Amino acid sequence: MASDGNAAIDELQVLRTQFLSELKDCRDEKCIEAVRIKYLSKKGLLPGKFALLGKLSPEERPKLGQELNRLKTLFQTSLKEKLKQIEFQKARASKIDITLPGDRDYPGKKHPLLQVLDDIKKIFSEMGFSIEEGPEVESDYYNFEALNIPKDHPARDMHDTFYLPGGYLLRTHTSPVQIRVMEQQKPPIRMIAPGRCFRKDTPDASHSPFFYQVEGLAVDQNISFADLKGVIAVFARKMFGRDVNIRFRPSFFPFTEPSAEYDFTCVICGGKGCRTCKGTGWLEISGAGMVDPEVFKAVGYDPERYTGYAFGMGVERLAMLKYQIDDIRLFYENDLRFLEQF
Ligand code: DAH
Repeated sequence: MASDGNAAIDELQVLRTQFLSELKDCRDEKCIEAVRIKYLSKKGLLPGKFALLGKLSPEERPKLGQELNRLKTLFQTSLKEKLKQIEFQKARASKIDITLPGDRDYPGKKHPLLQVLDDIKKIFSEMGFSIEEGPEVESDYYNFEALNIPKDHPARDMHDTFYLPGGYLLRTHTSPVQIRVMEQQKPPIRMIAPGRCFRKDTPDASHSPFFYQVEGLAVDQNISFADLKGVIAVFARKMFGRDVNIRFRPSFFPFTEPSAEYDFTCVICGGKGCRTCKGTGWLEISGAGMVDPEVFKAVGYDPERYTGYAFGMGVERLAMLKYQIDDIRLFYENDLRFLEQF
């Protein structure tokens, strides 16, 4: 009988090894459950071994009984352990690793030029200027003639014009909007006109065949050059800060008399002189002046009764100064590495 008892113990050893090896190979809960059913369910392999007890002598029974119970506990705890292990592995695989760099969001936003245009519009709106628009495809009359630039006038050479069939052209500046607004409205007028302009320029760091300008115009009785200077000074300081000064230099434009070009204190060096301002401490912004009486005549305003000032602004130039950008082409390449910085 003793040999029966030992044989039964050996059988249990084999079952134990077999169970542990099958469980070890499990990779998911389904497999663990299958092992549990195979070994521990009512008709499973371990309960099957309880039948061995019947074959043994009363002296040998307790030893095998103990062994059976120990095996049952071992199987149960092993199954539990394995389940935990698999759950842990799964959790670890799906867990967020906070040491990884985060995913960045790329929300859409306004192009830097449009942001600067918004700033310009806001500053002038606060000073009581209306915002006007005109067409990009213009007639020769509005772009040149009515602005006192007759055919063969040398000033036309400065505007390398894209001509279109039928006497049309792509506007070379926003000044024609002055004419359109004055034709439609009576003084007092205080307006700005932002818009895209075109010139046959070869692109380089400071030239683009298309660019934005903002035109300004104020017409009323008793408007003087001092009003122009005041408005430009307020604009300069609101745009670039309190320390920015302005200066006007005599110049020539056919549609203003007198005409000037105006500069801002160099925003890069604060006026000390640097590469951007070529050591002068000043940055050239654009042209301005008092509206030429010839222009008033073209729109039917009485030049004896009304005076006015006009000014232009290059939007890219202002944006380049504001954000310290040294190449105008960057605005038009739509490279996300550039755009996402604004
Ligand atoms: N239209 C001019 C240009 O594009 C800029 C300009 C100069 C506009 C003088 C004005 C002005 O209104 O008064 O070069």
